[in-house]
Amino acid sequence: MPHPSRLALPADFRWGVATAAYQIEGATGEDGRGASVWDTFTAKPGTVRDGHTGEVACDHYHRWPEDIALMRELGIDAYRFSVAWPRIQPTGTGPVNKAGLDFYDRLVDGLLAVGITPTPTLFHWDLPQALEDRGGWLERDTARCFAEYAGVVAARLGDRVGTWITLNEPFVHMVFGYALGSHAPGRSLMLDALPVAHHQLLGHGLAAAVLREHGGRVMISNNCTPVRAASEDPADLVAAEAYDALHNRLFNDPLLLGSYPDLSAFGVDRDLGGAVREGDLDLIAAPLDGLGVNYYNPTRIAAPTAPGLPFEEAPIEGVPRTAFGWPVVPDGLRELLTGLGRRYGAALPPITITENGCSVEDEVLNGAVDDRARIDYLAGHVAAVEAAVAEGVDVRGYFTWSLMDNFEWAEGFSQRFGLVHVDFETQQRTPKASYAWYRNLIADQRARH
Ligand code: NOJ
Repeated sequence: MPHPSRLALPADFRWGVATAAYQIEGATGEDGRGASVWDTFTAKPGTVRDGHTGEVACDHYHRWPEDIALMRELGIDAYRFSVAWPRIQPTGTGPVNKAGLDFYDRLVDGLLAVGITPTPTLFHWDLPQALEDRGGWLERDTARCFAEYAGVVAARLGDRVGTWITLNEPFVHMVFGYALGSHAPGRSLMLDALPVAHHQLLGHGLAAAVLREHGGRVMISNNCTPVRAASEDPADLVAAEAYDALHNRLFNDPLLLGSYPDLSAFGVDRDLGGAVREGDLDLIAAPLDGLGVNYYNPTRIAAPTAPGLPFEEAPIEGVPRTAFGWPVVPDGLRELLTGLGRRYGAALPPITITENGCSVEDEVLNGAVDDRARIDYLAGHVAAVEAAVAEGVDVRGYFTWSLMDNFEWAEGFSQRFGLVHVDFETQQRTPKASYAWYRNLIADQRARH
């Protein structure tokens, strides 16, 4: 597979891989870790495919030295992982669990020792259950607790961590966790879940201020999708506009413009059900050092055919699909990035692609995994980033999701996203063809500059 030219990318462009605590660590009952909403959720029958849980996952909690060795060999500049809040504060606020901090301390030192920049995400969906028992992200106080936790982690790691990612995909957490109930904590509140958007963003704003006091730079990772109307029909255009407001602008506008978008199509006021208080938006809109963008696919939207929500998702035809069934549209990433540039202009900070990747039905054959579909996916998306950079968008880095196959939330272990194959029976790691491809791409890029 030929590499794209990559001449468009700057010399200091950063290449990385991403993971998240609950998806890889396992050891959920070890060293004083408290319960998270995902422990509770996965324990309920029928929530996750095949009854899988993150109890063991990739056993990264014990095998992290081996995983760092895989990253070193890959040649990445940076590793995006997440810190499990319930390891640090088992009840979400107050008492600190030293053993939890020690784990991330060792991890950070291990990464630095091999020249990889640790890029921690502070919240990747594993809320301490004790906070969920008090209302979770529906409660304003959870934002305050999040900033307290951010301060605890920064006090310990801030001398070695330069850039922090506060939240991962607050949209997905709100929709799947609180509106539809297919993720933890499993609430099905539909539009009554909207305060969860505001409280997460408020948590981001409060935590950002604390992280800065510790000398940190601050980013957030939003799941963004370019929204395409199913046709030029005005009803489809209006529906697409409504969906874009909910999925993209609800999170990007307050961060970058200091205001919420118009959600009147949903019958919702700009104060998101009374959640927004004076001063909140100033906190949320404090300048970011970077915007993290997680991209997987575009979304096609049509006018609703039934009462309820003001939009309906329409299929994207004529493109390949991942094992998950997601449409593969690399140019959607260029479209997304240039669209962000147009909408936010000078208010847009430098972008890092903090996740991009696909699931493939990978199999180990004679000790190898020939995941050509993943290589095609990644090559296409890297080319789309280059095209966006050539069109003037400031993109500083690209993290592939994921280093290794892991616990894919409601899908359990059935969807493999890794550059490294994991046998979940034996914990054997097998680098796939895409791992070698990515290693060559990074080496090649370095050789050019
Ligand atoms: C986004 C999420 O941040 C990550 O946890 C998930 O595994 C990937 N997308 C793939 O669905």
